[in-house]
Amino acid sequence: MNISIVGSGYVGTTIAACLADFGHEVTNIDIDETVVEKINAGKTPIHEPGLEDLVAEHGGNRLRATTDYAAVRETAVTFLALPTPSTDSGSIDTSIIETSTRSLADALADKEESHLVVIKSTVIPGTTEEVLLPILDATATEETTRHQVAVNPEFLREGSAISDFKDPDKIVLGTDTTESHQRLTSVFEPFLAESDTAVVETGIREAEMIKYANNVFLSTKISLINELGNVCKEYAVDAYEVADAIGLDDRICERFLQSGVGWGGSCFPKDTKAFVAAARDAGYEPSLVEAAIEVNDKQPVRLLNLLEAHVDPGGNRIAVLGLAFKPGTDDIRNSRALPTIEGLRERGAEITAYDPVAAENMRERFPEIEYAESAREALADAHGAVVVTDWDEFAALDEEFDRMADPVVVDGRRVITRRNGIVYEGLTW
Ligand code: UGA
Repeated sequence: MNISIVGSGYVGTTIAACLADFGHEVTNIDIDETVVEKINAGKTPIHEPGLEDLVAEHGGNRLRATTDYAAVRETAVTFLALPTPSTDSGSIDTSIIETSTRSLADALADKEESHLVVIKSTVIPGTTEEVLLPILDATATEETTRHQVAVNPEFLREGSAISDFKDPDKIVLGTDTTESHQRLTSVFEPFLAESDTAVVETGIREAEMIKYANNVFLSTKISLINELGNVCKEYAVDAYEVADAIGLDDRICERFLQSGVGWGGSCFPKDTKAFVAAARDAGYEPSLVEAAIEVNDKQPVRLLNLLEAHVDPGGNRIAVLGLAFKPGTDDIRNSRALPTIEGLRERGAEITAYDPVAAENMRERFPEIEYAESAREALADAHGAVVVTDWDEFAALDEEFDRMADPVVVDGRRVITRRNGIVYEGLTW
């Protein structure tokens, strides 16, 4: 099948490469010429484990890229994999996806056969039918067949996007006609033939909401384990042992039960805020999700309060270990390191930050703090340390703490294994 995908971010490039790997002819459309050149030369524009090999194999062959929307006319299906960022009020900003849909509509204006436009981006229920479909319909003429829309949300995690795409828990197909359902199903046919993955066949609005429900549920689950962990800490109870035990109940499940300094990244913070804004717009006050956001905002403050109980950050050097929003990425968007560094600066601390891959991104945000080449170097003349990202390499720190004058370590991710000879505080244990 000939498929086009608009957007070459981690979602767009991942699905383009994986669909080419399933045997489809795929065209990736992006406004960035450098990205287009890279893909055609078999080079990945983003870092994602496993993507390099797939783009090297298919780039320039079954996977091609272009800046020209006219390419969609040669395809039967177009996936829109574009960002839906937050506005200042927290609601979603659909301007990027609207502009792109306009370009798509112009390109499809004289296409006689019907075309299926599939929304991959995270959008509030009603957006596809009430905002995007009218844009497509505006250019339709008597001669052209009415275009179809569908919603196929993605559940890929940065750092494991390829394996999440190839081995998903579920595939959600939100359609409103038999024709669009059949066409969307045929995109996944080569994969479904060899897999027993659950396929959720549903309506367009339900598919839009499933994506929000998934992310809102997971982030609220983490905030709940964080709140339990905060209370555990007050009672000198190890929250990780508690989480291990309750995770054995398959109604709860052990995944996403790691308590600590909270959730970040480009999805959970944006999607929880957009969900709250959409609920309020509809006249409903989503107090539980608001509380989940509040707990998340407070975790870095608790981390700093714990540090302050042992060492005054004012005028002292504090090492911040981990800057990425999670291990395996250099992405610092909404990383818990941001409020942690801001809080330390407000308290007058001298900061040395270290991350194996995200330091350069953080340097653009905080050029005035110091950056170390290793955790060892960051700890060398520090009076205290906070751990913000659970990079495996932090588990092996041991003699590094001996180099500190009075080692105080506040661990926001339960990653440090050393307990003796240092003042060790786990955030939730
Ligand atoms: C998340 C979802 O997990 C994906 O299913 C979804 O497709 C994606 O958002 C999206 O909407 O595009 P991602 O943001 O890549 O994926 O990262 P996660 O692995 O979910 O981690 C999010 C945050 O939660 C990280 O800051 C992580 O450290 C934190 N976390 C995760 C915890 O604090 N505790 C946990 O137990 C798990």
